[in-house]
Formats: sequence, C-alpha cells, structure tokens
Amino acid sequence: MTDQELVAVAIASRERAYVPYSHFAVGAALLCADGTVYGGCNIENAAYSPGNCAERTAFFRAVFDGHRDFEAIAIVGGPEGKPVENLCAPCGMCRQVMMEFCRPQSFRIILADAPDHPQSFTLEELLPLGFGPSDLA
Ligand code: THU
Repeated sequence: MTDQELVAVAIASRERAYVPYSHFAVGAALLCADGTVYGGCNIENAAYSPGNCAERTAFFRAVFDGHRDFEAIAIVGGPEGKPVENLCAPCGMCRQVMMEFCRPQSFRIILADAPDHPQSFTLEELLPLGFGPSDLA
C-alpha cells in the first residue's frame, strides 16, 4: 500500500467523524504489519473529555482485533464538510499511544494537506526521547 493510498483511506474515514462540538473532522488509517488497514475517526462527547481522537480509534480497533505490529498511520483533519487544506499533526496523547506499540525509528506518521501530497515523519521525529515500554523493562 502506498502512502497516497493510505491517505485515501484516512480521507474516507474522516467522513465518519462525530464532531458536533469542534466541527473539526479527523480521519486516520493505520497500516498493520500484515497489510491490514484500520480506519478511525474522532468521536466527541457532550462532556468533552470522553471524546476520542481518530488515531486512537484506529489503534484501539486494531489492538482489539489482535494486532500488535504496525507500520504507519495516515492522518488528515480540518473543518467538517470541507476538503483538508492543512496538515493535522497528532496530539501528544496519541503520540504516546503510538509509543506503546510502535518502534519510534521506523513507525511512520503520514500527514497530508491534499490527497496527493503525503509527508512522512517517524514517531521519533514527532516524539523525541519518548517514554515507552522498554523504560519499564
Ligand atoms: N483530533 C484528532 O482526532 N486527532 C488529531 O490529531 C488532533 C485532534 C480531534 C480531537 C477533537 O475531536 C478535535 O480534533 C478538535 O481538537
């Protein structure tokens, strides 16, 4: 699967976003080592803090299905009902969830401000000196 194809799944997943409060719709597409792809969207809540980001929706769906090995995640976000125009970088909490399951030097975070313009970063670039499972080993 190319980065552009993964971004296309993130764009489609964004259509499922439940965002009555922020009206900021995010979609994610998580590529597992075996090639399976999980979409995710943000799901907000009237009490605000129970809301979940698109990235964590994708991770938790995949982990529930038994996946523990991940290659990359594509993320797109922007005002609901409009095509994406700017990069949407993952929040700190989502970066920490990635740190739990992914190798910081090789796991790739693909951001896009247009369907045909993916930009790739490693988890290590976006979460330098991250604290993870190996610190407790
Ligand atoms: N959000 C995500 O789903 N992922 C990100 O990478 C950034 C922020 C969501 C949380 C909230 O529902 C909305 O975007 C505005 O912060």
